[in-house]
Amino acid sequence: MRLSVTPGPVAPGLQSRQVASEGRHAAVHLLLACVLSLIAGAACRQDMHDQPKIKAYREADFFADRRGMRPIPENTVARGFLNDDDHLFTGKVNGQVTDEFPFEVTREVLQRGHDRFAIYCTPCHGQTGMGNGMVVQRGFRPPPSFHTDTIRNQPVGHWYDVMTNGFGAMPDYRAQVAPEDRWAIAAYIRALQLSQRATTTDVPPDRLSELNAPQRPTTGPAVGDSGREDGGNH
Ligand code: HEC
Repeated sequence: MRLSVTPGPVAPGLQSRQVASEGRHAAVHLLLACVLSLIAGAACRQDMHDQPKIKAYREADFFADRRGMRPIPENTVARGFLNDDDHLFTGKVNGQVTDEFPFEVTREVLQRGHDRFAIYCTPCHGQTGMGNGMVVQRGFRPPPSFHTDTIRNQPVGHWYDVMTNGFGAMPDYRAQVAPEDRWAIAAYIRALQLSQRATTTDVPPDRLSELNAPQRPTTGPAVGDSGREDGGNH
């Protein structure tokens, strides 16, 4: 493309007009080139937009039933959802509700259970499991206390099942609480039950003397909670 012009031997007035007209021509050429390359570019892009692919729920000629989305073969299991451990995922062993935990109950597990219990269960069951949580104080049907003989004698697998599938007026918590956390909560309920019935025989002999020692003020929130009223007025 010619962008500069050499003035020829012409009259000054004519020369300047010619230069101006040549300049206009150059600009028009440039504009044309730009427009052409834009169109070419857009066409390329369009190709990529129209690439042969099947979108979810769209019809597709490729398959005999004309469904673009293929039905999932029977018994397909999503990755990570095999759940082939009955004990861990159902609370049952050989079809029987079990009183065993599927993993070791450590201090961390109990702390996790306390934490999850405080979030998901105390609104109804209360901080100590007496069944007088805030929602109950506002009129929800009171659940049974965890400290009755009936509940105390229930196997932990039953509580796992209650959390997984709900029980009577109680909704299930399977969506909110992961299986391992449900077991942690079950372990914490056992700890709560012990807390209401423990005697000096439950204390290791070498630590008995600490019971009569004056209580040290605790720093920060402790596992046993900060002595708040059950259900809370907060
Ligand atoms: C919205 C209130 C509410 C929440 C939150 C709640 N529960 Fe319950 N729960 C109930 C009620 C009400 C019952 C009694 C149901 C019935 O007998 O119809 C009950 C019963 C129970 C029982 C006794 C089952 C039996 O066999 O008698 C257990 C154990 C239990 N809940 C555990 C839990 C745990 C663990 C959580 C937290 C993950 C929880 N609940 C959260 C209301 C609640």
